[in-house]
Amino acid sequence: MRLTHLSLNHFRNYRSLDLDFSGVLTLLQGDNAQGKTNLLEAIHFLATSKSIHAQSEREVVNWGAADEPIPYARIAGEVTRSDDPRPLNLEIILTPRGDGVNFKKQVKVNGVNKRSMDLIGNLRAVLFLPEDIALVADGPGVRRRYLDIALCQMDRAYCRALSAYQKVVTQRNSLLKTLREQGASPSAPATVAQLSFWDEQLVRHGSLVMAKRGKFIRSLEAVACIRHAELSDDRETLAIYYMPSFNPGHMDEADYQRLKNGRGLIPKSVDAPAPFPDEESVAAHYLAQLDARRARELAAGGTLYGPHRDDMRMLANGRDLRLYGSRGQQRTAALALKLAEVRVMTEATGTAPVLLLDDVMSELDARRRSALLTTLEHVRQAIITATDWDDFTPEFRQQAQRLTVRNGRVEAVDV
Ligand SMILES: Nc1ncnc2c1ncn2[C@@H]1O[C@H](COP(=O)(O)OP(=O)(O)O)[C@@H](O)[C@H]1O
Ligand SMILES: [Mg+2]
Repeated sequence: MRLTHLSLNHFRNYRSLDLDFSGVLTLLQGDNAQGKTNLLEAIHFLATSKSIHAQSEREVVNWGAADEPIPYARIAGEVTRSDDPRPLNLEIILTPRGDGVNFKKQVKVNGVNKRSMDLIGNLRAVLFLPEDIALVADGPGVRRRYLDIALCQMDRAYCRALSAYQKVVTQRNSLLKTLREQGASPSAPATVAQLSFWDEQLVRHGSLVMAKRGKFIRSLEAVACIRHAELSDDRETLAIYYMPSFNPGHMDEADYQRLKNGRGLIPKSVDAPAPFPDEESVAAHYLAQLDARRARELAAGGTLYGPHRDDMRMLANGRDLRLYGSRGQQRTAALALKLAEVRVMTEATGTAPVLLLDDVMSELDARRRSALLTTLEHVRQAIITATDWDDFTPEFRQQAQRLTVRNGRVEAVDV
């Protein structure tokens, strides 16, 4: 799939932009703070319906738009797909809510209003950022977000279940809080009866999310290991473990506990893991966990188990990279993970995602850079930003559409 046209109004520092993309490669050069990241953010927004950087949607609306009669921001794109001759028109419009503070998001596909959820997957993109190291180095929330963005683009059912699950967690939390305030006994039939409705909903949607995350992580690991070995000159073996808030039966309980608490060397106990347990089997473990931990959840006044508490562990040669990895090792693992994501997404959907590389070339050494360039050979579109044309060889530049950005304006250049 390819993004053939992008148009922006009042998005970040772009007042108005109309841009055609031609060919497989587009290089976008610009000094700092000119709009390189903003442009890729806009494309990623169109793919995922979310901003990568903004805490709130109003941040992406151009500051100058406040002077307009109705301040708004608009991102629109045209996508072509190899299996369908008709182009797809995607559009997101942000307009202020009545409160004057927040913005609401209107989504259209081919001019028809859609839910955000139904936008996702029409344009698939994988974004590489210098901050990707956070995937390895930072807390679990970053990894959950990563899994969600990747999986939602690949799988509608996942996205629906995730959204339903999040609603159930909110409802169930408020019930648990009320029950705690009432001093309800965990074993009282009334308590069990009230909770069991929400338990069932939680398990139904949560198990689907967990089973799909588990399966996805297994596929990621298989590819990431190979990329990682290449990147580390075969000196290190990468292992990626799915670490849910309870063991859904995907690994030995002793291994699970060791991974959860262990700070030392964790041996890989099985070379060829059994397939990840199916949704039904996850659901059975999940229900049992909720039954066994009712008192604890009541005391906490909130939902303690389920995909909103998931994590993923990455180990090199048996050591936890988050705790013990050097910056270089963490960077290598993050890159291996992203390269694996491109491959897994391509295989799962039958089409390569659009690659968006934001200023990542300059900080990579020759080996990492060449791994990235190899992946480019397998995609139909890559949009790459840099501050310096010299980040690319003249041959590479010759094959590419060359653009430069200055103060929110993009121009074609000949370099
Ligand atoms: N909502 C906004 N309205 C106008 N300008 C913005 C907005 N958000 C960010 N900017 C500006 O965009 C510029 C940063 O653009 P960015 O794409 O991050 O630059 P770079 O080319 O370095 O990647 C900064 O000058 C910043 O002030
Ligand atoms: Mg930038």
